[in-house]
Amino acid sequence: MGFTAIVPAAGSGTRMGAPGGKLLLPLCGQPLLSFTLLSLASSQSVDKIVIVTREEDILPLFDLAKSLELDVPVTVVRGGATRAESVLSGLNEATDADWVLVHDGARCLITPEEIDRVAAAAKTRGAAAIGVRVKDTIKVCDSSGKILNTPDRSTLWAVQTRQAFSSPLLREAFSKLTDFNVTDDCAVCERAGIPVYMVEGSYENIKITTPDDLLVAEGFLKQRGF
Ligand code: CTP
Ligand code: MG
Repeated sequence: MGFTAIVPAAGSGTRMGAPGGKLLLPLCGQPLLSFTLLSLASSQSVDKIVIVTREEDILPLFDLAKSLELDVPVTVVRGGATRAESVLSGLNEATDADWVLVHDGARCLITPEEIDRVAAAAKTRGAAAIGVRVKDTIKVCDSSGKILNTPDRSTLWAVQTRQAFSSPLLREAFSKLTDFNVTDDCAVCERAGIPVYMVEGSYENIKITTPDDLLVAEGFLKQRGF
C-alpha cells in the first residue's frame, strides 16, 4: 500500500530508568525494538522504514535492523529533543513518500493486521489513528486534585500512536506547529484543523514506559509463541 513507516526511537527512557534508552532492553531474549520492526516489515502496507534515534544509537540500530533480515529497506536518522521533532526529522527523510505511518518504537506489541487496518483507514480518510475505548471513568482535576468534571466516557478513546497519514497532510500540519510539546501526531493535525479518524485497536498494545510494562509485554509475547 506504499507507506513509509517512521519509527520514533530517540527517547531517553527516563521513566524506565534506562539511561541508554529503553528500546534495546530484552523481551523474550530479543531487543524490544525487534518486535516493532518485524511487525512493520511484515505488514502489507509498509514498504520502507525510517528509524529516528539518538546519534549514539544510529549504528547499533542499523546493525539490529540488518540482523533481522527485514523484507523492506531501512534507514536510520538522528532525532530531536522532543518526539515531535523526531517525527519531523523522519518526515524530512521520507521526502519521496506519499503516505506515512508513524509508529513508536516503544509499542512493540503491534500486529501486522492492525498496521494494515490503520493504513487502509488513512487511504480512505486522509488521516487515521488506532486506539481503544477508555474503560475507566476519567476525572478532570485542578492542580490541588479537586475534581472539576467527568467527561462522558462514551466519547473517550486512548490513542496508541500508530497513526497513518497522507504525507502532504502531515507535512502541512507540521508546517503550522509552533509548540513541539505534543505527545502524538494526531494532536499536530488537530491543531492545524485537519480531521483524524479513530480505528478500534487492541488493549494489548501497551507502550513500554515503566519496568512493569516489560513484564506485561513479555506475558503477551509468550502467549503469541515467542
Ligand atoms: N521519542 C523520540 N524522540 C524524543 C522522545 C521520544 O523519538 N525526543 C520516541 C521514544 O523513543 C519512544 C516514543 O517516542 O519510542 C514514545 O516516547 P516515550 O514512551 O515517552 O519514550 P521516552 O521518551 O524514551 O521515555 P521517557 O519519556 O520516560 O524518557
Ligand atoms: Mg518521552
